[in-house]
Amino acid sequence: MLSLSDLTFSYGTIQTLHGISAEMLPGRVTCVIGRNGVGKTTLLKVIMGILRADSGRIAINDRNVTPHAASRRAREGLALVPQGRQIFPKLSVADNLRVGLEATRPRKRKIPQHVYDMFPILWDNRQRPGGNLSGGMQQQLAIARALVSKPSVLLLDEPTEGIQPNIIQHIGEVLQSLVNEENMTVVLVEQYLDFVKEFGHDFYIMNRGRITANGETTDLTQELISDYLSV
Ligand SMILES: Nc1ncnc2c1ncn2[C@@H]1O[C@H](COP(=O)(O)OP(=O)(O)O)[C@@H](O)[C@H]1O
Ligand SMILES: [Mg+2]
Repeated sequence: MLSLSDLTFSYGTIQTLHGISAEMLPGRVTCVIGRNGVGKTTLLKVIMGILRADSGRIAINDRNVTPHAASRRAREGLALVPQGRQIFPKLSVADNLRVGLEATRPRKRKIPQHVYDMFPILWDNRQRPGGNLSGGMQQQLAIARALVSKPSVLLLDEPTEGIQPNIIQHIGEVLQSLVNEENMTVVLVEQYLDFVKEFGHDFYIMNRGRITANGETTDLTQELISDYLSV
C-alpha cells in the first residue's frame, strides 16, 4: 500500500505539486491520469525520492519513508519504471536487469527466472545491447528491471507511450498478474484511456498539480474525461 499525504513540491520558485493526498491499495492498479504538464512525472519522482518533497508524507505499507533517499525507498519495496524507459543502451539486457538487483537486501546476484518468464523475449535477447532493442522490448526491459527486486509497490510512468498494440496488451496482462497473484500495489501514470479502462481499478485525475477527481475506473465518466483529459 502507498499512502500520500499533502505532498508539495516546487522546481525552484515554481510550485508544481499542491498538496497531493492519495491511497493506492494492494491488489489494485491505481491510475494517475491528466494532460501533459500537470505534474504526473514529478509526482512519481517525488514518491520514488528522486525529487524531495517540500512538505507532506509518503508511507509504504504504513512505514513512513519520507526522510529516506531513493536507494533506501527501493530497499523498502518501491520501484519506478521511468517515462522514456531510461535503459542503459550499451549494457546487455542481462546487465540492465542486474542493475535492478542493486535494490535487493541481502544483495542477490542472479536475475530471478520469474522475470524472464514474464517477458520471454528478454530471455531470447539477453546478450543484446539494450540500445539495439525495439521500443516495445525496451519498455518490457524497463519493467523487468523494476521487478527483479520483487517490489511491493510498482510505479509506472506512461508505459504504453510509443509501443505497438500487441506489446501494450502483454504489459497490461503482466500488470494484471502482479496485482492478482502477488497482491502488488501498482501505480500507473497513463494517458491512454482504453488501457486505463481495461487494466485499471482506481483512478486519480491530476490538474495543475492537484487531484481534481478520483474513484473507480468503472466510474470514469465522459464528463470527467472531457473536463480534465481531452485537449
Ligand atoms: N526539471 C524541471 N525543472 C523545472 N520545471 C520542470 C522540470 N520538469 C518538469 N517541469 C515542469 O513541471 C510541470 C510538470 O511536469 P511533469 O511532472 O513532467 O508533467 P507530466 O508528467 O504530467 O507531463 C511542467 O510545467 C514542466 O514544465
Ligand atoms: Mg510525464
